Amino acid sequence: MWHPTPARRHPLPTAHWPTAEAAAAGRWFRPIRIAGTTVLQRTWVPAMVPWRATEDGLVTDDVVAWYRRFAAGRPGVIVVEATGIRDVPSGPLLRAGHDRFIPGLQRLVEAVREASHGETRLFLQLIDFLAVKRRPQKAKYFERFLALSERHRAALVAATGDGRWRDAPEADVRARLAAADDALLDRVLDWREQEALRFGYRERVTDLHLPHVRELPAVLPGLFAAAAARARTAGFDGVELHYAHAYTMASFLSRLNTRDDGYGGKREQRVKVPLLVLRAVRRAVGGEYPVGVRFLGDEVIDGGNRIEDATWFALEFARAGFDFLSISKGGRFEDAKQPAVGAAVYPYTGPSGYECMPTVISDEKGPFGRNVALAAGIRRAVRELGYDTPVVTAGGICTFEQAEQILARGDADIVAAARQSLADPDWFRKVRLGLGAQVRRCEFTNYCEGLDQMHKQVTCKLWDRAELGEPGLAKSADGRRLLAPSWSPPETPSRPSLPSSAPG
Ligand SMILES: Cc1cc2nc3c(=O)[nH]c(=O)nc-3n(C[C@H](O)[C@H](O)[C@H](O)COP(=O)(O)O)c2cc1C
Ligand code: SF4
Repeated sequence: MWHPTPARRHPLPTAHWPTAEAAAAGRWFRPIRIAGTTVLQRTWVPAMVPWRATEDGLVTDDVVAWYRRFAAGRPGVIVVEATGIRDVPSGPLLRAGHDRFIPGLQRLVEAVREASHGETRLFLQLIDFLAVKRRPQKAKYFERFLALSERHRAALVAATGDGRWRDAPEADVRARLAAADDALLDRVLDWREQEALRFGYRERVTDLHLPHVRELPAVLPGLFAAAAARARTAGFDGVELHYAHAYTMASFLSRLNTRDDGYGGKREQRVKVPLLVLRAVRRAVGGEYPVGVRFLGDEVIDGGNRIEDATWFALEFARAGFDFLSISKGGRFEDAKQPAVGAAVYPYTGPSGYECMPTVISDEKGPFGRNVALAAGIRRAVRELGYDTPVVTAGGICTFEQAEQILARGDADIVAAARQSLADPDWFRKVRLGLGAQVRRCEFTNYCEGLDQMHKQVTCKLWDRAELGEPGLAKSADGRRLLAPSWSPPETPSRPSLPSSAPG
């Protein structure tokens, strides 16, 4: 796991848990309006892929149980994991690319309503991504995948000084390249071919030679709109368009988007497809339905977007009518670690991935609230322009005090916690009820993220082995881990009283 150097291990922030009364009086548990919907608290579980759908992208009992468990903690919002907008195979990730996915999604909505006593609003995160192939075996790459051309022959002649490669049989050239060392391959292959060999082939939004990539601006609005309409039909309270991390929409926004068809280059052009998508989604779901966006406050990679770009996009997004702005950071492919042969590159293994999900092995700044400044800068700019679009922040937030300070300073309107909620899905409720001493605290060492990287069912090391022998508890595919905590949510009065006034 990458971490900054020099680094040290940071202790968890001290938590002074509030009494129930102090929590009720706090900002975190106050309502907020998002479009036509009242969210009862500013607590938020951001999207987390748990790898529990069927291979066909359908909701399973395990998916339902996962969200039911988070809902028992009654956060203001749960954003359901990145869900594919297309009807194409994509492994055990949820999909919303066809009407047949609606009944499963409906089940999920009903489970969350029931488990949260109607207190949690459920949003669906909608994602598009391009093809990423596994890293091939070297021999197989040269045998099957490399599109051998005159360019390769000429480069091989130049690099070896051996003119016979100009006309040698194709099989001999391929065999020679398969036996070549890295220095020779660096001279013969172009950078995309080197990447395909060493990391696995990966499509980009700039691959205009590929018809399906060229047509993305025409195709994506309809796909996102149809998926959002299905989310609405299934009963979701809103959608979050995934414009963050390593995926298609973030790549349109990126400074690395050099498309020359009017959808790349300057910021005004990079934002076009994301805005076309929003308009189509809005037409499909109507004006009152919450449509938010998650995007990057900083891409972290060389040549990528910085806070200035993100702020500019935030203003465009607020102006165009997004109902919330959820700010993330990093998580890009460009600086990811080389995968093992047979594995796919994973966008959270390099410095940008670290910034997305920082761990306790950190630099002086530490992982806690590490990314709040990005949200704060964006919120300030959005407010200065006169928009009151709520801003969501996440990243290393795990105490009531952190959340209260963020809200009091006006750095964000909503404070999200992913890993702390995974460590203890009841934690929001415990804090709200004055039972903070019972919170099981995330250690921020990213065992869960390691499972995600291996496409294994995501669990937390704090609870996935305790009581493993107990009968009746759902287990991972290999039977070695529990899929949910074995403890029950706190038994308490049904509905905590809410403050009477609802500040914006
Ligand atoms: C297992 C796992 C899966 C995640 N999946 C998603 C996802 O589907 N979409 C997304 O926008 N972020 C995803 N994230 C990032 C989180 O939403 C969050 O931004 C990040 O973990 C930092 O917040 P935290 O410090 O509270 O965990 C994932 C994080 C984890 C740990
Ligand atoms: S596995 Fe570790 S980092 Fe992940 S939620 Fe649990 S304690 Fe936190």
